[in-house]
Parts: sequence; C-alpha cells; structure tokens
Amino acid sequence: MSTVTSALAKGVASSAAAMATVDSVNPADLSDVVARVELVSAPTFVAACRAAREAQPAWAAVPAPVRGRVIAAIGRIVEENLDALARLVTREVGKPLAEARGEVQEIVDTCDFFLGEGRRLYGETVPSEMPDKQLFTFRTPVGVAAIITAGNFPVAVPSWYLMPALLCGNAVVWKPAEYAAACASALYELFAASGLPDGVLQVVQAEGATAYEGLEAALRERLVDKVGFTGSSAVGERIGELCGRHLQSPCLELGGKNPMVVTPSADIALAVEGALFGGFGTAGQRCTSLGTVLVHSSVHDAFVDAFAEAVGSARLGDPTGDVLYGPMLSPRFAERYESYLDWIGSHHRVIGSTAVGRITADAPRAGFVGDPAAGLYYHPVVVDGVAPGDRLFAEETFGPIVGVCAYQSLDEAIELANLPGYGLSSSIYTTDPREAFSFRAGVGAGMVSVNNSTSGAEAHLPFGGNGRSGNGSRQSGRWVLDQFTRWQAMNWDYSGRLQKAQMDTATITPDLTFRLPPS
Ligand code: UN1
Repeated sequence: MSTVTSALAKGVASSAAAMATVDSVNPADLSDVVARVELVSAPTFVAACRAAREAQPAWAAVPAPVRGRVIAAIGRIVEENLDALARLVTREVGKPLAEARGEVQEIVDTCDFFLGEGRRLYGETVPSEMPDKQLFTFRTPVGVAAIITAGNFPVAVPSWYLMPALLCGNAVVWKPAEYAAACASALYELFAASGLPDGVLQVVQAEGATAYEGLEAALRERLVDKVGFTGSSAVGERIGELCGRHLQSPCLELGGKNPMVVTPSADIALAVEGALFGGFGTAGQRCTSLGTVLVHSSVHDAFVDAFAEAVGSARLGDPTGDVLYGPMLSPRFAERYESYLDWIGSHHRVIGSTAVGRITADAPRAGFVGDPAAGLYYHPVVVDGVAPGDRLFAEETFGPIVGVCAYQSLDEAIELANLPGYGLSSSIYTTDPREAFSFRAGVGAGMVSVNNSTSGAEAHLPFGGNGRSGNGSRQSGRWVLDQFTRWQAMNWDYSGRLQKAQMDTATITPDLTFRLPPS
C-alpha cells in the first residue's frame, strides 16, 4: 500500500498539512488497500490556485508549438506505461482490464490530437469595412482552470480537460475523486515526467465538500478563470450556480439517462450486442451508459428474449479476467446503486440474472469468475415494462440495470427518449436512413449513435450534453478549445486618421427599383 499525497507547487507543498486520511480500496478485493490518501484543506486548494495564477503567465509565454511538444511527450510516456496504468485503473476502480487499456489509449488519442493543435491554435484575419484597417482574432488562454472529476474514468476523462487546458497555455488545479486517488497520482507522475514547469499542473487530493469550499474562496479571490466538472447532475447544479455568481460558465459533464431505440427494421442481434456493452460495460457506471431501451412493440419480444439470454449468460467477476463487467467503483457507489433497486415495482418484469442485488453465496451467479464475496459485485438487471412516471424511467441509475419500454411510432420513441430531460448520449438501431435522421433531429442529446452503443465515444468528436446532462459545453476535438481559450478581437487602423465604424464606411448605391422586363 502506498501513501498518496497532493502534488502541489513547491511553495505550497511545504505548508500543506493533511486534514484527514482515507483509504482507497480495490472494489474487486476489499482487503486490498490500494492507497492511503492524505486529504488537504480548503485553504490548501486556494493556495494551489494562487500558485497556479503565478505560474501561468510564463507557461502562456512558451510558444504553443513548444507546448504541443510537451503534450506529444506526455502521449509517448503514457503509451510506454499503458499496461502499468491500465492495471492500476483496474485495481483501483474495478474496470475490466480490456476497458482500462481502452481508457489509457484514450489519453494517447487525446495527446495525438492536441500535440498538432500546438501548431494550429488558429486565429483569423477578418476584412474591415474601412480601407487601411485590418481585423484579427486571437485565442488567448483563460488563465487558471480548476478541474474536478469523477473516478469512473479516472485517467481518460481528466485528460480531456488537462491536455487542451495545458496546450492552450493555462495552469491547472485538478481535484480527482478520492476513490481514484492512486490513478490520479500516477497520471500526475506521467505528466510531470514531460518536464512541465512547477505550478502549471497541481493535483489537490481533497474531499468534495472541501474542494467546493476551496473553489468558492478561490473564485471570490479571482484566482480561477474556468471550472471543469465531471460528475453527478446534482453536484453540477451547485457548481453551475457557484460559477454563475462569479459570472463564469463552467464546462459541465453530468449524468445521463441515455436511450436506445430499436426500430422494426433493426438488426436485433446487433442491437442486443450494443445494449449489452452500453448497459453493462463498466458495470453501467459510465455517464454514457444505456438507461432505457425503447423498442418497437412489433420487435419487443424478440429483442427482450435475446437481450435476456445475452445478459443471463454474460461472464461477470474478477476484472483482471475476461468479463463483461467487474465490481462497482467503490462502496459509496454500491450503496447508492442498492437504493435504485428499490425503484423496481410490482408492475415490472425483472430478467437477466438469477437474483437482484449483490452476488453472494446465497444469491450466486452462474459462471462467476473469482470469489464474489471478495468485492462489490452485483447481478445485472433488465427491467421490462418501465414507463414514464417510474423513477427507473426518469432518473439516472448508475449501475448494471437497464429498463425496457415498448413504443408504437417513431414520434413516440423520440418523445420518450427526451422525457427524462437529460441529453447526453442516445442511440438508434435501424436500417432506414429516414428514421436515423428523424431521430437525430428530434432527440435532445448531444451525441447520437446509429447502429452503435450509447457509450464508447471517440476522443475527437464533441462530447457533452444538454438539459440535465450539462450546460451545452463540449469537450474533445477542436470544440473544447472554446472552453480553454477566449477569443480576443483586435482591429488595427493604419490609415493615419480616425475612421468611425458604421459612420465613415463607403457605400455603393444600388438601383433597387430595377426589374427585369416582362417576357
Ligand atoms: C464518462 O462516463 O464520463 O463514451 C465518459 C464513452 C467513454 C467516455 C465516458 N469514451 O463511453
């Protein structure tokens, strides 16, 4: 077991005392303490932001292509350490090794994208309405970014913030999830090996409430210019409110109740495969996890039978093995998930496993890989017959549970897809382009998959949601640059006289009375 401390700028580290310690345990083997985490106080969070403020101008002065080389180096270092980091992800949050490797690959993909952005980061030259005058736009760094992330993607999702923020010339203070502290610390070490200057990236290990308190104080002191938050919609609302009071718009990546529509023309076997991965990958603990399958009544029985069979025979268990999913992320997530199971009602038909709830010796799961008593393992649940009005239909249920609801027309499916009011990811299985494009136009989600699962977005398309899933901010690809830079407009008049816009502009007089002769 290792001790994990915050990674702070030199001047801050000496005065930062630990307030408390918490153990980060392996959710697949609760006797394995991955790290003892030393948590710091709100004033330390503020001190880190102050140090970031001091470090930022020098970092912004480093030419963007040179910053791009640093991002390139991080990508190489991560790639060289892919297996070790993936194994740590699996050990600390219980994600199957294949998924953990994919997660680390997502960091490398993000580096690949942003290293080139160092040589672009384009501004524009814009024509002026005046002679001898030129207009320009420049992207300028926002300054200090405070990033708060969940632990279900303990290294990839933080990288979606860190990479573009650093590339654009910002300093970053990152507060990771306590239950993924060792992953955060390892990721920091990999970043630090790239030669980032002191204070440009700091990791503050703190409790959520402490970080909120620190963030509030740092915003009041005007030490933070951008907040990025990935986590629950409930906390996202509080962060949004706090940022609003300081006239800031945060980058919010929140929950989802992601629908999958299965139309009469769908390839049912393909839809089942997509539902299995979307619903149960990462034990259903992705923000993009499948919430409800909306299936046309004409194919409802065929789909549900095949889905129940696939879920029922899936291999679960030890995440270092070849399994569909492993344990819940941490005891807190297991506890919360159990409360969602209370939402199953008598009008629902429950299928997919031999029991509901924790997998134990008394409630076993056929073919379980490993010892279920060692970790936080739960049966997969498919609930047929969920309907508007059910909490299971309306609320995110972070865990291995998927609802099924029948529909009659595509318009109804779209209405049902939008009803919960989230708007992150969505999917439709169809062979009819008209249905695919009607769904795209009608669904309120920021992301739409056609004949693909709700989860598994590629790292260079805009990622983000609407409604209860976020405030419209987008991560990834070139779109995230608008989160970590601000547009600066410049006009340069070299005419030697004051030319007043809108007033001194030349006009060319048209003959608006002109008409073609009748033919
Ligand atoms: C998340 O759960 O916060 O699209 C992100 C996906 C992953 C990212 C999920 N690439 O499922």
